[in-house]
Amino acid sequence: MNGKLCVGLVFGGRSGEHEVSVVSAGSVAGALDRSRYEVIPMGIDRSGRWADAGTAAAVLAAASATPNEVPEFSGATRLDPRLQDGSLDVVLPILHGPFGEDGTIQGLCEVLDLPYAGCGVAASAVTMDKVLSKRLFREAGLPTPRFETLTAAEWGRERIRCEARGLALRLPLFVKPARLGSSVGISKVNDAEEFAGAVELALGYDDLVIVEEGIPGREIEVAVLDGEPPLASLPGEVVPGHEFYDYADKYLDDACRLLAPAPLDPGQVAEVQRLALAGFAALGCEGMARVDFLLDRRDGRFLLNELNSIPGFTSISMFPRLLGLSGVGFGEVLDRLIECALARHARRQRLAAAALRPLEVRARPGAG
Ligand SMILES: Nc1ncnc2c1ncn2[C@@H]1O[C@H](COP(=O)(O)OP(=O)(O)O)[C@@H](O)[C@H]1O
Ligand SMILES: [Mg+2]
Repeated sequence: MNGKLCVGLVFGGRSGEHEVSVVSAGSVAGALDRSRYEVIPMGIDRSGRWADAGTAAAVLAAASATPNEVPEFSGATRLDPRLQDGSLDVVLPILHGPFGEDGTIQGLCEVLDLPYAGCGVAASAVTMDKVLSKRLFREAGLPTPRFETLTAAEWGRERIRCEARGLALRLPLFVKPARLGSSVGISKVNDAEEFAGAVELALGYDDLVIVEEGIPGREIEVAVLDGEPPLASLPGEVVPGHEFYDYADKYLDDACRLLAPAPLDPGQVAEVQRLALAGFAALGCEGMARVDFLLDRRDGRFLLNELNSIPGFTSISMFPRLLGLSGVGFGEVLDRLIECALARHARRQRLAAAALRPLEVRARPGAG
């Protein structure tokens, strides 16, 4: 169709970040170069059903025009038929949290043999999982706060021992569900007596919980955009308005401030950019990620906190702002993401073809 690339822009979804995703997709739709791309809006409602084409287009148009009033919508089908009928050249998932950022949509695209932007299945699942992420940081020798893990089963069976393990770390502690986001279910534990309640709260969201040493200091974020070579942006800073960067800070009030760029000296900028690229590589990321750090005020060290494989893309979001400051405009960010998606798909097809050849040999009558 008219030589343009058909981009399936997927938004909404089943996570608590449904609205943010719709707003992000609205601003992505506005930044995609219409001389190169045909934008195909694809909306997933809160229960996981896909909206029909007309509804998805209307929701996206409304989100672009009035980002403060995101319309509710409901889907009609288990799966958008356009995923399977050759309508799409590439999928651009702008979904946050579970069932979007966690490898599930990516797996769907793999099964359908559709190119998609951003991290692959494994890296998406790993970035969503704080325990796996931190094990891989440690394995790569990258600095991250000390931590312990607790499962629901362990907590049920040997609670005293779990408390002893968690409290062996230095207070204050952060207790978090291992695989969520938006600060949901996270508590800061200032006192040993608060520990059990914090674990119970986190266990309400996931049966794996991570307990981390709290780091006093600043929160620094770097955008990484893949390419040859990947690019690390100038760092930004989140200044929480609450005791930590909690759910209310992120979505409910305007108490927190975003500084872009972060006030850091050139040596610190170079160091945090180096660690951002190392974190991106350690988790096997592709396409993009926002890499979040804690800057320890006691010794000036940057510690990796987490990577977000589909960061916010609203007009005030850090990811596009930081890349903009680093000289990569919003449209160019999207061009690069789509290029990476197509290049990976082509590479994977070649590798898949190579992987099939030995099987053909083995299947020959008389062999093996
Ligand atoms: N180890 C820590 N030390 C200090 N603050 C922390 C620590 N872990 C989390 N926080 C605070 O909690 C917020 C949310 O934690 P985070 O791990 O980023 O979860 P989410 O995936 O929900 O964003 C952080 O932005 C920060 O304010
Ligand atoms: Mg975070």
